[in-house]
Amino acid sequence: MICSDDVYGGTFRLFDKVIQNNGIEFSFVDLTDEAKLKAAIKPTTKMIWIETPTNPMMKLIDIEQCVKVAKEKKIIVCVDNTFMSPYFQSL
Ligand SMILES: Cc1ncc(COP(=O)(O)O)c(C=O)c1O
Repeated sequence: MICSDDVYGGTFRLFDKVIQNNGIEFSFVDLTDEAKLKAAIKPTTKMIWIETPTNPMMKLIDIEQCVKVAKEKKIIVCVDNTFMSPYFQSL
């Protein structure tokens, strides 16, 4: 999995301390930068986890751009949009 490098602490702990111990490898990447996203994709990448706006830094990630990159590689994209809610943020 590729995950934003700035995510809610609970999310980071779940990925880093729990899920990672079950054979799923994570790369924590600055997803505001398309080149960094592309560079992080491996043949084994199955999912990109976006949080936008991020907690705590309020970084904004371009969901559409990430989805475009992901679709080319048949990778699932998940978006935690806790702050904006589906009412204010959708594709
Ligand atoms: C971005 C983000 N995701 C997830 C959560 C966790 O939400 P919940 O406690 O409803 O699972 C929070 C809580 O602050 C958050 O800020």
